Amino acid sequence: MRSTTWRNDPESRLSQRSLSGGSSAIRDLLEQAQRPGMISLAGGLPNADLFPLAELSAIAQIVIGDCGGDSLQYSPTSGVAEAREALSSLFGGAVTADQVVVTTGSQQGIDLLARTLIDRGDPVVVSDPEYLGTLQVLRSHGASLSAIPSDQDGLDTDRLEARLTDGLRPKACYLVPHFHNPTGAVISAERRRHLDDLSTTYGFVIIEDDPYRDLFYDTDRPPPTDPHPLTVSLRSTSKVLAPGLRVGAMSGPAWLLNAVTVAKQSTDLHTSGVSQLIAAEALRADWYPAHVAHLRHCYGAKRDLLVNALEHNFSDQIEFATPAGGMFLWARFLAGTNTDSLLVNALEMGTCFVPGSAFAVDRDLADHARLSFVTASATELEAACSILAAAAAS
Ligand SMILES: Cc1ncc(COP(=O)(O)O)c(C=O)c1O
Repeated sequence: MRSTTWRNDPESRLSQRSLSGGSSAIRDLLEQAQRPGMISLAGGLPNADLFPLAELSAIAQIVIGDCGGDSLQYSPTSGVAEAREALSSLFGGAVTADQVVVTTGSQQGIDLLARTLIDRGDPVVVSDPEYLGTLQVLRSHGASLSAIPSDQDGLDTDRLEARLTDGLRPKACYLVPHFHNPTGAVISAERRRHLDDLSTTYGFVIIEDDPYRDLFYDTDRPPPTDPHPLTVSLRSTSKVLAPGLRVGAMSGPAWLLNAVTVAKQSTDLHTSGVSQLIAAEALRADWYPAHVAHLRHCYGAKRDLLVNALEHNFSDQIEFATPAGGMFLWARFLAGTNTDSLLVNALEMGTCFVPGSAFAVDRDLADHARLSFVTASATELEAACSILAAAAAS
């Protein structure tokens, strides 16, 4: 007899992998962020007003005009030679073009690494809280997440060592070393060395995802990553040029890059060649350093505005460390505020943010919130904080 269950339950056709993403109450709520007039501190988007539009548009014309059909042809999976060369500069001096694979944003890099490293059930270390996009990828690949608490000095490597001593044998450890999303934390040099040593001893790969490294405000430029045989690094042009280009880069040990290239071939054949050429020209352009300095200046000023507005509206009812870079401020509401409920009130009053629970793995972060400070205007940042304070009080 033919089965007709699918008519009643078509979603039963979906793979376990696609179901593991699940539906999220927070995602559904945040759809309201698109409502006209809503002030959003929720998005992880860079500020579109600061995209170098005229420069990128001039480059696009030159790229297509000069390279003609070649710029629009299929190209090698590991990336166009000019782009691999230009993107190698994002890793610091030690990396050469042939040690770089161009990815469709760093998000694809995370997914390709999960495909190549993780079998269902493999343990992977993440910090708690962690970047949502990575949690989604790892969960969809069936990784068993081993959450290690983090603080303002990043992943607590002593806690990780204790778990390793107890028998944990992870395949990989995911790390956002600078201006973490959502916490804004920078891993201390001491903990980073400790992590490298643990990776050498226990043989796990460090997936270093560093898209915010150039957005530093009142701290020095982060140093290049020390060479380590089990570290694979991801970089992105999304936060410094424009995310719509979808150009990122990966560098790491040859055995892993080879496997990633094979996986990438079946995923998208290659990252858009036109985008790669535009990003390469932009990274080499005379205006590029001044552009990134301007971004730092504008985002740093917005960070200060948010800090002042929070202090003004909440005084001692909120706790946060001022982020030294990146796009997010991670706040803890005192007096037992539940930020899932706060979001419902805040949405009604015209502002939104992402509650801490969205980034939690094992910890209870229901009193935390991630506030993005880069897209809202000065007036909106101030209005959003007084709305949040009113919503928290209601
Ligand atoms: C930590 C982290 N990694 C990766 C990404 C994805 O960036 P991309 O646009 O390069 O794919 C983001 C985007 O917000 C991020 O915060």
